[in-house]
Amino acid sequence: MTDPSDAHPPAHLSRDDIRRLRDRALADDHPADWFDPLYVAANGQSDQIPWALEGAHPALKSWIAERSLADIFHLPKAKALVVGCGLGDDAEAIAQLGFQVTAFDVSPCAIGWCQERFETSRVNYCTADLFHLDAAWSGRFDLVFECRTLQALPLSVREQAIDAVVAPVAPGGRLVVVTHTRPTEDAPEGPPWPLSPAELDRFTQHHALTLTWEREFASLEMPPRRCLEFVRVGAS
Ligand SMILES: C[S@@+](CC[C@H](N)C(=O)[O-])C[C@H]1O[C@@H](n2cnc3c(N)ncnc32)[C@H](O)[C@@H]1O
Repeated sequence: MTDPSDAHPPAHLSRDDIRRLRDRALADDHPADWFDPLYVAANGQSDQIPWALEGAHPALKSWIAERSLADIFHLPKAKALVVGCGLGDDAEAIAQLGFQVTAFDVSPCAIGWCQERFETSRVNYCTADLFHLDAAWSGRFDLVFECRTLQALPLSVREQAIDAVVAPVAPGGRLVVVTHTRPTEDAPEGPPWPLSPAELDRFTQHHALTLTWEREFASLEMPPRRCLEFVRVGAS
């Protein structure tokens, strides 16, 4: 965002304030720039964060309940990366399974909040931008988990965002994506911007990942949410 006053907006943003911040960031072609001001303005109150659940996402809970994780991953050695971790609940749930977890978010405020909430956590929380990830992370993680971050980024950066979540998956590793999906290629009104069939195909066709598991969850206001697990075929 170009206006420095946006770095410290007043606490208790109204929905309109949030929309304005977001629309300005999108118009400026900096689609991630409204997240940190939102976390700052929430001033430690998670009910001010529209997506905060105060617990692991139900789709992650289903994945944990339904997959034989001990057969798929070498726990407790397996390494997991949580993309756009927000307030950290999913990262904590994955760490409790025995993964060595790194969790990142573009918002320094969100990361500080995670570190305060989970003071004794084993999770390595860090500030990082999905579009500029450390090259050392490439192909290094046995599990990459992304929940609702792809759909929060506009279609103009969709391919780049998909490529960026795939890059850290190790050979033999899994990628788990939780996202709304849409039935056609027509551009949706967002955010969120559900993933289209062609965008989902990018995982399997462009990146040669194999879909290993999926669940669909009905949604009243939105197209269905899906939890998709892919494997990057290759020796681990
Ligand atoms: C809709 S929220 C979802 C948060 C969390 N995954 C959840 O499900 O509760 C999207 C998150 O992605 C983060 N984010 C957006 N753009 C990002 C980027 N380029 N790199 C890293 N994180 C990003 C935001 O700060 C925000 O925490």
